[in-house]
Amino acid sequence: MKLSKFGEKFTRKAGITQLMDDLGEAMTNSSMLMLGGGNPAHIPAMQQRFRERMEQILAEESAFEKMIGNYDGARGNAPFIEALAEMLRGKFGWDIGPENIALTNGSQNAFFYLFNLFAGEFSDGTAKKVLLPLTPEYIGYADVGLIDNFFAASRPVIQTLENRLFKYHVDFQSLETGDDIGAICVSRPTNPTGNVLTDEEIEHLDTIARENDIPFIIDNAYGTPFPNIIFTEAQPLWNPNTVVCMSLSKFGLPNMRTGIVIAREEIAAAISDINGVMNLAPGGLGAQMAIELVRSGEIMQMSREIVKPYYEHKALQALEWLHEELGDSVPWRVHKPEGAIFLWLWFEGLPCPAAELYERLKARNTLVIPGHHFFPGLEKDDWAHKHECIRVTYAQDEAVVREGIRIIADEVKRIFT
Ligand SMILES: Cc1ncc(COP(=O)(O)O)c(C=O)c1O
Repeated sequence: MKLSKFGEKFTRKAGITQLMDDLGEAMTNSSMLMLGGGNPAHIPAMQQRFRERMEQILAEESAFEKMIGNYDGARGNAPFIEALAEMLRGKFGWDIGPENIALTNGSQNAFFYLFNLFAGEFSDGTAKKVLLPLTPEYIGYADVGLIDNFFAASRPVIQTLENRLFKYHVDFQSLETGDDIGAICVSRPTNPTGNVLTDEEIEHLDTIARENDIPFIIDNAYGTPFPNIIFTEAQPLWNPNTVVCMSLSKFGLPNMRTGIVIAREEIAAAISDINGVMNLAPGGLGAQMAIELVRSGEIMQMSREIVKPYYEHKALQALEWLHEELGDSVPWRVHKPEGAIFLWLWFEGLPCPAAELYERLKARNTLVIPGHHFFPGLEKDDWAHKHECIRVTYAQDEAVVREGIRIIADEVKRIFT
C-alpha cells in the first residue's frame, strides 16, 4: 500500500495506538489487572441516573426517534450548547453565549483540531509548535500534529513533599516562548500525574499567552464543574484568549464521545467549520443524555456529591496500600494526587527503564503505563526521570487495585535487590 505523508504519519504505530492495542489485547485476558487505561469507573449511583435518563428519553414521545434520527448542526446540539452557556455563565460568571461553544466527538477530537489550527505550517512558510509548559503531559496529545516536531516542552521543577509525595511545577525560568510557538496547552488536573497547576501558574501562563498573542488551551477533562475530579482548591479560568476544553467522558459517558470547546467566537466557529468537513456534525447522544442534567444543574451536584468523593476515596486508599506494600524498602515517591484518576509513581534510580518494568509487570498480568510516553516535546531529552516513573489507574475495582499494587511493589523490590 502506497501511503501519503499523512497516511504514513497516522498509521505509524504511535505510542498511543500501541498502548490502546495492548489494552485491547489485555481486555481479552480476564485475569489481567487493568491499571493501565484511562477508562472512568462504573459508579453505580451514576449509572443508575444514566439509566433513568435513557428510560425517560424512551418514554417521551418522539424523543428517541429524534435522538437517533436527526443530524445536529456542525457546531453540535443547539439546545445543549445553550444550556451549557447558561450554566457556565451562572456558575462562574464567564461572559459567554452559545456562540462561544462548539461540540466535538470527544475532546480528543478537539485537540486534533485546535493544535492543528494554531501550530504546524503557516502560509508564509513558517512553522509553529504547541508549547507544553509542564511535562509529563497527556499522551493523547503526542501524535495529533499534522507535521513532525510539533511540540516544545520543558522539564518541570520537582518539589519534594512529606510522606513520599512530590509535586511538579512549571519552570518559568526555562520557558521559552518565541515566534515559533502557536499556542500553549496544559491539562488541569493533569493526566498522568494528578497534578493541579496552581492558580498562580495558570495566571502566569495566561499572561505569557496574551503577551505573545497566542491562545492558552486548558484541558479540563477532569476539572470543574464536571466531572470535578479535583481534590484541591483551584479557580477555573476563561477569558477570550483561553480555550477551555471539557468532556462528558470522565463524568461517566466516555462512549458517548462528547467534547466541549469554550472559546472566543471565531475559534468556536472554526471548530464548527472543521466539524462540518470532518464529520458533518458531532454525534448528539451525549448531548441528549446530559441536557436535562445541565439545565437543572444536577450535573454539577452529581459531580460534587458522587464523582469527586468516589475518586478521592479511591486515591487515598491506593496511597495507603502503596505505603503498606513499599514501606521504606526502595526509593519511591508518588505525585501528590490532586485530581484525575491516576497515581504517578517515581522510583528514583530504578535499575532498569520503566519500559522494562512495564513488560515484567505485564508478564505478571498487571498492566500499567511506563512513564516515558508522557513527555511529548522532550523525546530527545535523555533525562533519567522519564524512565523512572509509571502511571497507575486507581479507577478499577478495589480488589484489582489492591492486588495490582502488591504486584508492582513486589516486582520493584525484586528489581532493586
Ligand atoms: C487529559 C485528557 N484530555 C483529554 C482526554 C480525551 O478524552 P475524551 O476524548 O474522551 O473527551 C483524556 C482522556 O483520557 C484525558 O485524560
